[in-house]
Amino acid sequence: MKIEGATVLVTGGNRGIGKALVEEALARGARKVYAAARNPETVTNPNAVPVALDLTDPASITAAAALHQDVDILVNNAGVHLGGEILLDELDKIRLEMEINYFGPLQVTRAFAPTLVANKGHLLNINSGLSWLVVPDHSSYASTKAASWMLTNALRMELSAHGVGVTSLHVGWVDTEMAARRTEEKVPPAQVAREAFAGIEHGALEVLVGDAARQIKTALAVDPSVLYG
Ligand SMILES: NC(=O)c1ccc[n+]([C@@H]2O[C@H](COP(=O)([O-])OP(=O)(O)OC[C@H]3O[C@@H](n4cnc5c(N)ncnc54)[C@H](OP(=O)(O)O)[C@@H]3O)[C@@H](O)[C@H]2O)c1
Repeated sequence: MKIEGATVLVTGGNRGIGKALVEEALARGARKVYAAARNPETVTNPNAVPVALDLTDPASITAAAALHQDVDILVNNAGVHLGGEILLDELDKIRLEMEINYFGPLQVTRAFAPTLVANKGHLLNINSGLSWLVVPDHSSYASTKAASWMLTNALRMELSAHGVGVTSLHVGWVDTEMAARRTEEKVPPAQVAREAFAGIEHGALEVLVGDAARQIKTALAVDPSVLYG
C-alpha cells in the first residue's frame, strides 16, 4: 500500500517510536497523519492532527474510530514496559501491562476494522524481539509482546479476507525512554519508522529491524535449552 496520499493514524504518536512514525508518514507524503495520544497536547508536530486516545479508556477508542473514518493505515504503536519479574510483581501491574499492550491494540483494531475494510487499508503492529525471547526484568513485558505477536497473526487471518494487509514489526532495543536504562546497542526510532513504512509499501507480513531482531527470530528454531537451559 502506498503511503503517499494515505491517511495514517499512529497510537502513542506523541513521543518515542510513535513520534518517528508520524514524521516518516508525513515525509512519505501521507495526506493526513493522526497522532493519537493520551494527552493530545503532548503532540508537538505541527503537521500532525492530534487525537485523544487512551488504551485504558475504551470510550476514547470508540470515539476516535467514529470520528476518523478516513484512516487507511492504522499503526498500533503505544505500549508500556512496567515490569518486573513475573513471580514477584503486583498482579495488578502485570494485568495493566497486558491491558495496554494486548487488549489495547485489540480494542483499537476492532474499533477501526470497519474503516480499514471499507478503505482496503493496512494494519501495522509494533511488536518486539521480546515477542520471541524473554530476558530478566522484562518477563511480564515479553509475555504481553508474545500475545501481541499472535494477536497480529490472528488479525491478519481475519482481515486479509477483507483486503486489509497486516504487518508485524519486530525490533530489539530502540533509543527511546522505554529502553533508557538498557546499555546495549539501540536502533534509532527513525530507522524503525523508515523500515516500517517501507514494509507496508512492499506488503511485508513481517518487518525485522536490526540485527538483534533477526538473531532472535533465528534462535526460535534452536532447542529451548540453548536459550533457557
Ligand atoms: N524502546 C524499545 O526498545 C522497544 C523495542 C521493541 C518494541 N517497542 C515497542 O514500541 C512501542 C513504542 O515504544 P517506545 O519505545 O516509543 O516507548 P515510549 O517512548 O515509552 O513511548 C510509549 C508511548 O506509548 C504511549 N502510551 C503509554 N500508555 C498509553 C495508554 N494507556 N494509552 C495510550 N498511549 C499510551 C505513551 O504515551 P504518553 O506520552 O502519554 O505516556 C507513548 O506515546 C511499544 O509498543 C513498545 O513495546 C519498543
